[in-house]
Amino acid sequence: MQGGGTVVVTEHGKRLRKDVVTVEAASIVPESRVEESSIEKMPPQKLSVAPMMDYTDVHYRQLARLMSKNTWLYTEMVVDKTILYNTNRDKFLWFPPEQHPISCQLGGSDPETLAEATKYVAEYGYDEINLNCGCPSDRVAGAGCFGAAMMLQPELVAACCSAMARESKGIPITVKCRIGVDDQDSYKFLHRFVQIVSKESPVTHFIIHARKCLLKGLNPHQNRTIPPLKYEWLLALKRDFPHLQFSLNGGVLTLDETVAALQFPCPNETDGIHGVMIGRAAYSNPWRVLGGADVDVWGEPSNPCKNRKDLLYEYASYADGMIGKWCRKEDGFKSPNVRVLTKPLLGMFTGEPRGKKWRAAVDTALKTDESVTEILDKTLHVLPEDILLKGPGKVPTAVDTKIPGLLAMPLPDLEKTAETNS
Ligand SMILES: Cc1cc2nc3c(=O)[nH]c(=O)nc-3n(C[C@H](O)[C@H](O)[C@H](O)COP(=O)(O)O)c2cc1C
Repeated sequence: MQGGGTVVVTEHGKRLRKDVVTVEAASIVPESRVEESSIEKMPPQKLSVAPMMDYTDVHYRQLARLMSKNTWLYTEMVVDKTILYNTNRDKFLWFPPEQHPISCQLGGSDPETLAEATKYVAEYGYDEINLNCGCPSDRVAGAGCFGAAMMLQPELVAACCSAMARESKGIPITVKCRIGVDDQDSYKFLHRFVQIVSKESPVTHFIIHARKCLLKGLNPHQNRTIPPLKYEWLLALKRDFPHLQFSLNGGVLTLDETVAALQFPCPNETDGIHGVMIGRAAYSNPWRVLGGADVDVWGEPSNPCKNRKDLLYEYASYADGMIGKWCRKEDGFKSPNVRVLTKPLLGMFTGEPRGKKWRAAVDTALKTDESVTEILDKTLHVLPEDILLKGPGKVPTAVDTKIPGLLAMPLPDLEKTAETNS
């Protein structure tokens, strides 16, 4: 083991202690290899939780999985070179077997390094490998062609995906992208991107954050809020590429919006949008988004979790077993530590009575407590018992008006948008 607690910044801008990055763990066999990916057994990707750097880590995903058996979970983006140059790949790629169905998102723009990284990802038994073509961040987009900037070079995206497919052992390769980049924001541009990538690579599923990305002038947060959402462009894609699958991402907040989106009538009587991906809402209010998902979205007879009290203790038994899994030092340093393992719980009572008081109590408890179970024991009394024991809410499953105006929106016509919108 090297390092003396110095902080290094990884390619994707994450700040990590050097000793954690370089910890010698090559001998660890990925436990998730035990259960090989078997895509045909997986539920359809009707709902997924979006990749979110610094948020959708293995711990958050475990919490999500306890709430929904069927929702697909995406890793944070992992840069291909991070996988190639770190011996402790478990830190980036390991997941408990119960986290299937799970997709690993890769970042990169070199077909060969992406293919090399894919070899390792495939070893861990992921169910899908996704290429990031939507990330707006300067620290990534500025470092050459990467993230959303990749949309400007569809031939390169196709080459990357083909190289990844060559090494993926049959695991499907998918693409997550925007609807446009900078002034390349016509439907024709998006259409051409999908056409080239689907023709020149084995990709058949595109997850589309339905707003364009401005590489200069907007920060990442603004790039997720300011450019307008154009969900209807996904329906147009389905009309124009009925053999491909399109998942809708951006601004979806609830399960009833999800169900409504899945039922949007598509032109040509095709089978509609393949799935809905939710990001921020699934993190900031996980119980509302995921607690009822198995029943509401997949029509299961029941959801895995009856109430949040049981859920929190179930998560705590996972979390306490993870303390120090990556690194333990004599001076008491542990990675992950209790604070990192408690972070995914902080949105569990968003908007509920005394939710803020509970978060404050957790913050205080974190200063002294040694386990997530202890934190819960000391703080849950702050919340009313009826909130702790309340089941996931039942929501209507009929198409409603939750995504306002969408059904009235004219679909873009390829020829017209080419003239007026490019
Ligand atoms: C903090 C944060 C980190 C993100 N990291 C990634 C990422 O690593 N890869 C990616 O493709 N998108 C990333 N995104 C974008 C989300 O996946 C998603 O496309 C976006 O938030 C829109 O969905 P939403 O409105 O449901 O949140 C990130 C978003 C947030 C808020």
